[in-house]
Amino acid sequence: MKKKNKTFYNCQSCGYQTPKWMGKCPGCGEWDSLLEESSSPDGYEARVGSGRKIKPVKPVPIDSIPSDEETRIKTGILEFDRVLGGGLVSGSLVLIGGDPGIGKSTLMLQALNGLCKSQNKVLYVSGEESIRQIKLRSERLKILSPNLYVISEIDLEKILVTVEEEKPDILVIDSIQTMYNSELTSAPGSVSQVRESTMRLMIMAKKTGIPVFLIGHVTKDGAIAGPRVMEHMVDTVLYFEGDGNHVFRILRAVKNRFGSTNEIGVFEMKDIGLAEVSNPSAVFLSERPEKSPGSVVTASVEGTRPILVEIQGLASSSNLGNPRRTVLGLDQNRVALLVAVMEKKIGMQLTGLDIFMNVAGGVKINEPATDMAIISAIASSFLDRPIPDGTVVLGEIGLTGEVRAISHIDLRVSEIKKMGFTHCIVPENCVKRLKSIKGIKITGIKNIAEAMEILF
Ligand code: TYD
Ligand code: MG
Repeated sequence: MKKKNKTFYNCQSCGYQTPKWMGKCPGCGEWDSLLEESSSPDGYEARVGSGRKIKPVKPVPIDSIPSDEETRIKTGILEFDRVLGGGLVSGSLVLIGGDPGIGKSTLMLQALNGLCKSQNKVLYVSGEESIRQIKLRSERLKILSPNLYVISEIDLEKILVTVEEEKPDILVIDSIQTMYNSELTSAPGSVSQVRESTMRLMIMAKKTGIPVFLIGHVTKDGAIAGPRVMEHMVDTVLYFEGDGNHVFRILRAVKNRFGSTNEIGVFEMKDIGLAEVSNPSAVFLSERPEKSPGSVVTASVEGTRPILVEIQGLASSSNLGNPRRTVLGLDQNRVALLVAVMEKKIGMQLTGLDIFMNVAGGVKINEPATDMAIISAIASSFLDRPIPDGTVVLGEIGLTGEVRAISHIDLRVSEIKKMGFTHCIVPENCVKRLKSIKGIKITGIKNIAEAMEILF
């Protein structure tokens, strides 16, 4: 008996499957996100059901596998190579996610330029733009290499056949949401299509050793559409983020099988494409107002690199019953927690005040080591007294107001010294590890009361 194609309902936001339609997804609670899709007839059940004999695979002892020297292909963009963990690994699948319009296609074209220069044949598949549009962009970026081949196509089967025929050294898919498998009935961009396309590209990459870049759009709540289902299939996930109103863009590794995660690369969007920012600390501090209350400098470590950023706080009297707590670039809950600790432990009356926090330059920071800076910025604005000249504060704060040790203290302090600061306030427990760093005054603190004493 021929097996019928099964249909099921697939949640477009979390991938939850159910045989019956429902208004609300039980998996993620999203409304109206279930879409009817059908499974391919060539699935596992069909193969087993057909009585065809499936041959077993021979396992290999791990010590008998020849270990070939891992070679990394460099793009020539240092910031990009570092985020990749030192270059592109053959046969790897790299997903680059980001908001529409943030500059993913631009970054990709510029990275391809370097790859083409080192005699790699690159196939760029765009499902979003015509080849003329790509040409226009590459003219603007001054990238016109004979090694860069472009096609405008969304049919995945055609693309795979083309890859087999053309044998490129590197393949780029812009974007994975536009890819279409004719075996599936759902529209491009649906969870099934995205999952199937990623899977087939992964199989191709592992079999042929061709590295593949996948570009993916991020949905409004910050996940790559068809999201989690894709992240575990690829080797590396990079997010390209930034505030549309600022020129700075940050490329961040959130998963990397071949390198450190949380490594970041900083770029600036110019009219001729993206430019590398090799000294982000200088850039982020360049417009800092000196001697003004509410501005504090701290060092945040992203991956292996310390970056100095300016944290700004503003506490002003509120005429609202429920004062505002507006936070940009920092974790809102963390700020609420720190405000509560300040009220309780140093008796600062912040209850009736609006509090605004911002990280200058549109950067996002998610590190407890910046707690001390957040507290200092709020206190400085509250007391209307600036932080002493040349001073940087570091430290994580606990609920009892204690200052806790932080990681990479030596990296941070070295960067602070390099940028010309003269005084560093650090957790007491970290002071010992800083003995070797000369030429900068180090003060250890145990709790926030002590810190306030020293600062104001
Ligand atoms: P794009 O790479 O098309 O974004 P994505 O692929 O992530 O959707 O970038 C589009 C934006 O970048 C657009 O708003 C204009 C800006 N841009 C520049 O400022 N300078 C340039 O040289 C280029 C090519 C784009
Ligand atoms: Mg694009």
